[in-house]
Amino acid sequence: MTERTTDPTAPRGHHRDTDPGVVVVVAGAVYDQGRLLAARRSAPAELAGRWELPGGKLEPGESPEEALVRELREELGVETEPGERIPGEWPLKPGYVLRVWTARLLSGVPRPLEDHDELRWLARHELDSVDWLDQDRPAVAEAALRLPAA
Ligand code: CDP
Repeated sequence: MTERTTDPTAPRGHHRDTDPGVVVVVAGAVYDQGRLLAARRSAPAELAGRWELPGGKLEPGESPEEALVRELREELGVETEPGERIPGEWPLKPGYVLRVWTARLLSGVPRPLEDHDELRWLARHELDSVDWLDQDRPAVAEAALRLPAA
């Protein structure tokens, strides 16, 4: 919540940095035992079959980390702990931007409950083996650098 409040005493740039007209999509570089979770989209038609870091749109009043935990619970049925933000922001369709956080799997076995039809855990040397959405590629490259050892 703090990041959504404008505090006049905060240093410049410390309050929200997002244009209110822009929809933020948060995605998780979910890792477990040295591997990164990749999810294959089942919809919409133009994205189906491409692989992404799972996530979804921020809802009003949510922090990005809260949105990420909620989306991963809804889409995969798992509990996760967000870590660091991967630097950068990637445009999606007009009016939408993608931001990515690392997330550690706490409990559950991911299942493709919503939006996806297949999941894979990829080791570092396997990250190029799936057809990532173009907008996710830079984040996946950054996530690979942060992948903890198994
Ligand atoms: O689950 P929700 O409806 O909130 O969002 P979504 O449909 O999963 O994602 C919103 C938009 O962000 C879609 O156009 C996705 O294709 C896009 N997206 C993406 O490009 N890369 C991701 N890693 C996650 C979502």
